Amino acid sequence: MTTRVLTGITTSGTPHLGNYAGAIRPSIRASVKPGVDAFYFMADFHALIKCDDPQRIARSRLEIAATWLAAGLDTDKVTFYRQSDIPEIPELCWMLTCVTAKGLMNRAHAYKASVDQNVARQAEPDDGITMGLFSYPILMAADILMFNAHKVPVGRDQIQHLEMARDIAQRFNHLYGKGHDFFVMPEAQIDDDVATLPGLDGRKMSKSYDNTIPLFEGGAKAMREAVARIVTDSRQPGEPKDAENSHLYTVYRAFSTHDESAQFRRELEDGMGWGDAKLRLCERIESELAPMRERYAHLMASPQHIEDILQAGAAKARKLSGPFVERLREAVGLRQASPAAPVKARRSETGAGRKARFVSFRDEGGLFRFRFLDGDGQELFLSEAFENPKVAGSVVKRLQTEDFDGFVVESAGRIHVRVGEKEVCQLDSARLSHVRDVIATLADGQ
Ligand code: TRP
Repeated sequence: MTTRVLTGITTSGTPHLGNYAGAIRPSIRASVKPGVDAFYFMADFHALIKCDDPQRIARSRLEIAATWLAAGLDTDKVTFYRQSDIPEIPELCWMLTCVTAKGLMNRAHAYKASVDQNVARQAEPDDGITMGLFSYPILMAADILMFNAHKVPVGRDQIQHLEMARDIAQRFNHLYGKGHDFFVMPEAQIDDDVATLPGLDGRKMSKSYDNTIPLFEGGAKAMREAVARIVTDSRQPGEPKDAENSHLYTVYRAFSTHDESAQFRRELEDGMGWGDAKLRLCERIESELAPMRERYAHLMASPQHIEDILQAGAAKARKLSGPFVERLREAVGLRQASPAAPVKARRSETGAGRKARFVSFRDEGGLFRFRFLDGDGQELFLSEAFENPKVAGSVVKRLQTEDFDGFVVESAGRIHVRVGEKEVCQLDSARLSHVRDVIATLADGQ
């Protein structure tokens, strides 16, 4: 069974070494593990919450995309996209907004922190707080629920947002699911092995503390200059150092094997000077980053190439989000797929009702679909839309005559029915055997 992993990075800044070691590198490593279906995206709608400088947004998007790619993300294997290329996300966000209690958002840490700051300086509690900031957790829930992610690797500061996403998902399932859940419950994935890099001053590396080590910007020189500014104690060369309590050592560990860092630690304890230790740290970081930096420079010089990759990723993502949002529109009543939605027929007492059947129709968008109904007229599934009615017809023919199991694919814990290249529908795994049984009655000529 595959696990769908999803995470996003807000495109409002220039990636630094902490972003690389804490988010990008572990995500790329996770994406190549067997059984992982990874969705990584650039959260540019989120960026608008923090940043009203269009140039900064554009620049950051390019830098973050180039960083993912330079660091080795395989965009054939993962789905890599830009949030704003997926119009289904804001649409889902609205549907979720309409089922989210305002009280839930009042409790969000990020919002409360802003209110507290306002109160502390005797301003209006909501001074300077936009609705974007206030309802940010709903947008994040939409990102996650859109693709039914199981695991969401994030920092600890995001745990509450995942709890909220689950709350919102549950509420939607309960209101509209009729016993069939639209959304799986996502979980935060906090990996203790993943390095949270300390910044130059020992606090968490963060742009807002101005204590970052640059990743690619400014080249090796800027990186070396930043490392030189890492704060150490005043012990002289020859004096034993307390490696465990030095953040220089913590950074070193994030870029070396267990043996290498043990060796480094011993040397510090044996009196290696801080100056030498910094040189050694630079070498280690540089051995990992140098080849990437070259790729990064190349990518930054060809924005069109990045754009092409993002467009391909969006197309891949929308294959899922498009049909899913259509189902959600039906669920909430914005669309009715068929003007003649099946009326619930009286269940025949003998069980010898009419035959199960496929019913084809044209939907409101003018596309062709079919429903599969059992003998009682109950809908077992509704197909995705087909542009060509002949193709829809031939898919129905194959479903009627060929072995159903040949069309069933399991992916990310969901059952997909695929005929040839075409996704026909998704089924709840609990319903699979029933659908299989009913469809078999067609082939039997019963
Ligand atoms: N809010 C996240 C952050 O600031 C970024 C983000 C947006 C995200 N949407 C997401 C992370 C969905 C994981 C899943 O770090």
